[in-house]
Amino acid sequence: MTDTSKLLDCAIETAQAAGRHAASNCSRRANTVLRTSHDVKLELDLECQKIAAGIISETFPDHSFLGEENTGHNASKDSRFLWVVDPIDGTVNFSHGFPFWCSSVAVQDRKGNTIAAAVFAPHTDELYTASLDEQAKLNGSTISVSKTSQMTDAMILTGLDQDIVSNLPPMYFAKTIALASQKVRVAGAAALDLCRVAAGQSDGYFEAGIFTWDIAAGGLIVEKAGGKSEMLAKISNQPHRKAFMATNGRIHEMLKSILKDGIASIQGSKDQH
Ligand code: IPD
Repeated sequence: MTDTSKLLDCAIETAQAAGRHAASNCSRRANTVLRTSHDVKLELDLECQKIAAGIISETFPDHSFLGEENTGHNASKDSRFLWVVDPIDGTVNFSHGFPFWCSSVAVQDRKGNTIAAAVFAPHTDELYTASLDEQAKLNGSTISVSKTSQMTDAMILTGLDQDIVSNLPPMYFAKTIALASQKVRVAGAAALDLCRVAAGQSDGYFEAGIFTWDIAAGGLIVEKAGGKSEMLAKISNQPHRKAFMATNGRIHEMLKSILKDGIASIQGSKDQH
């Protein structure tokens, strides 16, 4: 039986090692291995993932690994545990020197439930943690979600959904939330967005096409801070991509109902990218 606290310790060590490697090499932040119209993949993404994978495989040689930079996870290992790692979440921010990015590490059971999670933001030296046995914490102190109870008072973090469903107008979700809430913010690092929800600094988070490695750690951290997280739809033909929301719990159903028509379009669309 693997102790949850050992899993959490390894998640913390891994997130800190990956994050510190990126931060201490930020002079190389623009060294790109791939550039697309709205994204980049950096040399440091690959290096940080290698460091993360090395720590995990040394600590738990039988556990499986899924990382953003190598999405075919090592299926050869028939493990009860899957480590889900985004070595640099907020890669575009990082590449510009904009200090809102983090390393996100989660370990999940076979059903995809996160058991332990760590998110480390080197610039602000913030370490967010949670496990099934432990409350959400920021640098060792317990955190909790906000008490906002009306959408009109809520600040919601999101990403820009330009390529999810071709039968919805560009930015449909961001616009829909903006019209219903006090403010929408697009900060650019989903794992850290979720931690801000957990810390009560934002009231909710939603993205229409976010990847498992961006939300696996933050989703548990929100829940263990007293909030709620929920997968709303899977994106077809993209096994690790989904529509996902997390809130303080109080506004959860309100935000979900605002998103309902758009989510139905995702579920009904045969033309997702
Ligand atoms: C991205 C960030 C961003 C979100 C994108 C993600 P990456 O992750 O989390 O906030 O809007 O959907 O892909 O590529 O920087 O690891």
